[in-house]
Amino acid sequence: MIKKLILPALLLSISIGNAQGKKTKTYEVASPEGKNKIQFQLVDNAPKYSVNHGKIQVITPSDMGFMLKNNEDFSKNFDVVKVENSTFDETWQQVWGEKKKIRNHYNQMVVKLQQKNAEKRKLEIQFRAYDDGIAFRYVYPKQGTKDSIFIMDEKTTFNLKEDGKAWWIPAYKENRYEYLYKDSPVSTLDTVHTPLTVESKSGLKLSFHEANLIDYASTTLVNNTGTQLKTDLVPWADGVKVRVKDTFTSSWRTLQIGENAGDLIESYLILNLNEPNKLGNPSYVKPFKYFGIWWAMHIGKYTFWEGEKQGATTDHAKDYIDFTAKEGLHHLLIEGWNKGWTPAWYENKMHMFSFTQSADNFDLDKVVEYGKEKGVELIGYHETGSNLINYMKQIDAGFALYKKLGIHTVKIGHVGSKLNMKEWHHGQFGVNYFRYVLQKAAEYDLAVFYHEPIKDTGERRTYPNMLAREAARGQEYNAWSEGNPPNHVVILPFTRMLSGPMDYTPGVLDVEIKQGYPGKRVHGTTAQQLAMYVCFYSPIQMLADLPENYAVPAFQFLKDVPTDWTDTKVLNAEIGQYITTARKDRNSDDWYLGSMTNEKARDISVPLTFLDSKATYEAQIYADAEGTDETHNPSAVAISKKTVKASDVLKLHLGGAGGTAVRFKKL
Ligand code: NOJ
Repeated sequence: MIKKLILPALLLSISIGNAQGKKTKTYEVASPEGKNKIQFQLVDNAPKYSVNHGKIQVITPSDMGFMLKNNEDFSKNFDVVKVENSTFDETWQQVWGEKKKIRNHYNQMVVKLQQKNAEKRKLEIQFRAYDDGIAFRYVYPKQGTKDSIFIMDEKTTFNLKEDGKAWWIPAYKENRYEYLYKDSPVSTLDTVHTPLTVESKSGLKLSFHEANLIDYASTTLVNNTGTQLKTDLVPWADGVKVRVKDTFTSSWRTLQIGENAGDLIESYLILNLNEPNKLGNPSYVKPFKYFGIWWAMHIGKYTFWEGEKQGATTDHAKDYIDFTAKEGLHHLLIEGWNKGWTPAWYENKMHMFSFTQSADNFDLDKVVEYGKEKGVELIGYHETGSNLINYMKQIDAGFALYKKLGIHTVKIGHVGSKLNMKEWHHGQFGVNYFRYVLQKAAEYDLAVFYHEPIKDTGERRTYPNMLAREAARGQEYNAWSEGNPPNHVVILPFTRMLSGPMDYTPGVLDVEIKQGYPGKRVHGTTAQQLAMYVCFYSPIQMLADLPENYAVPAFQFLKDVPTDWTDTKVLNAEIGQYITTARKDRNSDDWYLGSMTNEKARDISVPLTFLDSKATYEAQIYADAEGTDETHNPSAVAISKKTVKASDVLKLHLGGAGGTAVRFKKL
């Protein structure tokens, strides 16, 4: 545990010498409470920055700048032209989210540089120091550059002062983001995706990521030497990293810094670095829970394609609509509703899906009409198969069809290793594609959730129709692979989920998957599946299981749990081991709690200090039954009730790979 080391806030520049004894000016910006500090200086005319948290140096002087085409080095030979400091403090409101009011409070330092050669190129580096981390980005201002600008490499490094344990997934792999996390020292990493979470030797919790990624390539991180992480921008197929005209603004390079694992989750730095809401509060964008004709396909009960076992038939759809209405939900996803599905749908091929023509045995108009009668809206589904040439030709027609039918949400999938079998999902091409679709969807009053997308960089602040995305190994792997081991679900909140809401598709209560493929199962308990709805944040949450598996008392929790919150608190957590999260419902005075553990059983005491101190609550507790763990009676949920107050301490027992979910109903 780190002691809090707070230095007084420092905003302006100071002057000191460099290591070689040659005098160079150091510019410094500290966060509002002085917790984090960034220093900038030119060393031999090359820009360098470093970062401190209290007295701990986190990043030692690290490189900045670019290599442009023709081997033009845009990382040295600079003069400082001007340094501007400012401070910013506002509290803004999320139209939906894990917390209603977010404070955006930082000190900024903008360093304006110019090269001393004939080109005289200008570069601006914007630094922001927050109390929960730091960020910086590059701006290439308009300066009459005639040629296109080709970035061949971004040279930014993060020289970690000390080694640490990193939780990582590999970059540049067939299955995009969908890998199990490994943990190993930073000094042994190859090329990895962000968010990259590191627990440093001194105990700090660090998350490296990026924010507000527009018309630029995504960043991966590569370790070439020691404890240095270097930016490795995902290239176009021809090797160029970024191609732009006149001007560019990189995404923010972000480093969240916490003293406890939960601090990373309670940090809103990524959102704060995105532009304010451009859409307002559109009535078509709403958080919700949904059922789907989906899990049945993944476990092999139905098929995505036409034929005897076809999932998306009018009859099945009507049954699911009846079930959805009976259980008080209002949204239903139906995959395989359209033409183009074949048994080879997941292979790397230029698949030709139609986004307007229904599959045989499926009458879209009739199903939509039936849903309307029952108060159930369909969720649109576009599986592109990563054939974006095909998709772009049809996107307007596909979205127009949904608009005509009164459909307001669309799930868009991108199965395939490369877009158009050519470009990485995370390259500039993909970055531009995913933002284009979001804006296009808004034109048709559609909210979006992506599968197989690029990583989240906080787009939902600017475009609240960006609901959630997958971008990690989700529940579906339990249906047809060796599955997600118990630690996966207690790593995700500290890694992938730091970037934004995830459509993990929880809620498989029949964890042994009795109707599924032999030997395939969920590697956790039913109570843990309930706890996910609180520990995993998403404005849309699937109730993924087959309807018949919800005929159990524990289902009540899933009916009750909301997906939109006023506040979020991580009560205790260790990365990859356990997490306990409490969230306050945005539409009532109730609180909810989820607690999850890895394979190890745990007893956890939770002080209920987050509750309103003047109120009394009924705690409705859904826990692993005695003796329950991943392999012993995993579906047994013990449901109990007790009256509690903020001064009480709740004792939880989690079985191995287990969990507890609690609703605190205000009395
Ligand atoms: C992968 C997605 O993650 C999953 O949700 C979907 O069912 C399949 N692709 C089919 O599109």
